[in-house]
Amino acid sequence: MSAFPPDFLWGVATSAHQMEGSYDKDGKGLAIVDVLPAGHQGEYPDALVVDPDRRYPFHHGIDFYRTFREDIALLAEMGIKCFRMSILWARIMPNGDDETPNEAGLRHYEEVFAELAKYGITPLVTLCHYEMPLELSRRYNGFASREVIELFVRYAEICFERFGKWVKHWITFNEINFATSTPFPCSGVFFGKQPRSEQVMFQTAHHQMVASAKAVAAGHRLIPDAKIGCMVNAMTAYAKSCDPLDALEELDADREVFYYTDTMVRGHYPAYAKGFLDRKGIAIEQADGDAEALADGTIDFLAWSYYFSRVAPLNPEKDPLITDAQRMLGILENPYLARTDWGWAIDPIGLRVTMNRYYDRYEIPMAIVENGIGAKDEVVDGQIHDPYRIEFFKAHIEQIALGIAEDGVDLFGYTTWSGIDLVSASSGQMSKRYGFIHVDLDDNGDGTGKRTRKDSFYWYQNVIATNGADL
Ligand code: BG6
Repeated sequence: MSAFPPDFLWGVATSAHQMEGSYDKDGKGLAIVDVLPAGHQGEYPDALVVDPDRRYPFHHGIDFYRTFREDIALLAEMGIKCFRMSILWARIMPNGDDETPNEAGLRHYEEVFAELAKYGITPLVTLCHYEMPLELSRRYNGFASREVIELFVRYAEICFERFGKWVKHWITFNEINFATSTPFPCSGVFFGKQPRSEQVMFQTAHHQMVASAKAVAAGHRLIPDAKIGCMVNAMTAYAKSCDPLDALEELDADREVFYYTDTMVRGHYPAYAKGFLDRKGIAIEQADGDAEALADGTIDFLAWSYYFSRVAPLNPEKDPLITDAQRMLGILENPYLARTDWGWAIDPIGLRVTMNRYYDRYEIPMAIVENGIGAKDEVVDGQIHDPYRIEFFKAHIEQIALGIAEDGVDLFGYTTWSGIDLVSASSGQMSKRYGFIHVDLDDNGDGTGKRTRKDSFYWYQNVIATNGADL
């Protein structure tokens, strides 16, 4: 028997820049991701320019801009009910502050939505997934400037007006909580060689949450039957020990994410925000109307990604090797958990814990919009046998079923990362593969681009067909 509601949105998740390619086609402007060269392995480019001597994986992606019809047909064959995708802001507003939108960009997404409609697939659309017009970063330092709030809202309104008849499920920002840890991809904020400023990052986060809330309100006005959410990377934390001091550390680690979800679900900053910011010596400037905007634009559902759990405290003084990036990814070893080839803890039960932590706190509908394993796949005689991927998803979906059936969590969708292999966001690699569909491209972008169904394709097809009853 299935634990999942009959209309459960089984699907896959993607983002525009990791798959579209055609970075300079049909009037698109440069996006911040277009200056991230291969092997960047971090948060920043060296400069906000394209260097002709370097390779830029996001310039080419997997060519989805041109192959979307064939790729959607394959995903439809797998049976997906929902396709999470993003719109590339710079295709619609090439410079971010243009007088008029780029018609070719708008038409492209209409074609994608029409294609999804052909198969009855529900689109779940993110307005900003780790990219924005590069000009906004160059001229305004991204969301560090208040001006970008209105530019984002205008872009969102254009999308709502033009795509509202196709798209009812929206997410404003991907993993908005990374504004305070990876500010370039998340918010277009570029510190260059300067040390990162927490003051700037938290101010940026404020602007971005206000922008999200204003877009939610605009979406409700323009598409009355829309459901609009925002999204965080859950990064669930466990205390390192039963020492009460570690419990406090865990609370702090969780609040790094709750700071965002509390504000966006409840429409105001949580009580602990003041002390949390005071301890960091940060003062956020709020303009007239910001508090009202946050209150008016609360989200209809909470979306989150889940890849791993973390261990708190990760104290750089006690654990001198822990860098910010390691800290973010919970690199401190959890002896109970295995890790992926890229060092991410594999923790299916943590997924159920996360469902409960959020649902206990908010009791609003939720969707898990990213979950998956980056793995190296081998093509043997034209086939890809990926039992590790099947095992990963089976273990995680079992926990989701328990979260729904035993804990009563109101979860309406699950979109795996990803459906089809695409370029890794953090490493720019193709070899860190997430799809059920293999794409013949290597880390240098060489290959035929041929699509091949992996074993996991047939497995997920059956999971969807049985509404999660047969794992
Ligand atoms: C999520 C991002 O955090 O992680 C995706 O929203 C990303 O864009 C995914 O691809 C997996 O991370 P990576 O770096 O392995 O591609």
